[in-house]
Amino acid sequence: MITVIGSLNMDLVTTVDRFPKLGETLLGNTFQTKYGGKGANQAIAASRLGGEVQMIGCVGEDAFGRDYLSHLKREGIIVEYVEPVTDSPTGTASIFIVEGDNSIVIVPGANFQLTPQKLESIEETIASSDMLLLQLEIPMETVDQALQIAAKHHIPTILNPAPFQPIPKKWWEWITYITPNEHEAAAMMADDHFQEQYKEKMIITNGKNGLLYYEEGNEIHIPAPTVKVVDTTGAGDTFNGALAYFLTEGYSKKEACQLAVYAASLSVTKLGAQGGMPTQEQLRSFIESDTK
Ligand code: RIB
Ligand code: NA
Repeated sequence: MITVIGSLNMDLVTTVDRFPKLGETLLGNTFQTKYGGKGANQAIAASRLGGEVQMIGCVGEDAFGRDYLSHLKREGIIVEYVEPVTDSPTGTASIFIVEGDNSIVIVPGANFQLTPQKLESIEETIASSDMLLLQLEIPMETVDQALQIAAKHHIPTILNPAPFQPIPKKWWEWITYITPNEHEAAAMMADDHFQEQYKEKMIITNGKNGLLYYEEGNEIHIPAPTVKVVDTTGAGDTFNGALAYFLTEGYSKKEACQLAVYAASLSVTKLGAQGGMPTQEQLRSFIESDTK
């Protein structure tokens, strides 16, 4: 079982021809509410591929929160530890999409009610996972607690350091893999406490150029297939969810990275973070058609 501890947001998605300037009112083209949040997105990505996935997080006791819980259940995610909280609304992300690119404002709301104490009380269930998948849309103390629990029970972890924040030194010992993009990776490597050996834990994503990681001092590059981009929102999440799934299934790092890059590429061909996240079957037929 893959456990995702992280955020759930309702994405308020507007497509528009260009980004508005300060003080300007523009006419948009379309508006849709979409399920999002990096945590839940990654959970769905792993689950669509066939993974057994449990989500741990908080939603508000509101319409968005209720809808989200039903959605996760429909997707087959274990939601026993997705807690509706009364004191904050469900997290939201207001997203503008201009020709496939986006700009996003996040209001964490209930996501910030996921405290370290809440994790302590469910340590057993976290300890029973095969993989723990984390992002940075919940409090840093909670991520810290999650990593500590995983380390104590020898559970492999993937930390997707997004949205980017400096990584505390002690985390490097606790994480198995970290998946920054190229800019985040550069920031990490520039940090005073960064050590050369941490490089081997990094899988550095680079959008349409695929990814790179370090192995025994060598740089390994994995290219991405060319696709028609509709919406890049959630591409990183698809990658991380798929990576967790394929690693848990016993694929090598290289194979898991290749498959996850294909999954992420497919995800950008449809609107919404979770739109376009492939099933195992869709992924395999995409790879087959691409390698013909
Ligand atoms: O990574 C994409 C996600 O980031 C969106 O779904 C949005 O909710 C923001 O959290
Ligand atoms: Na998409």
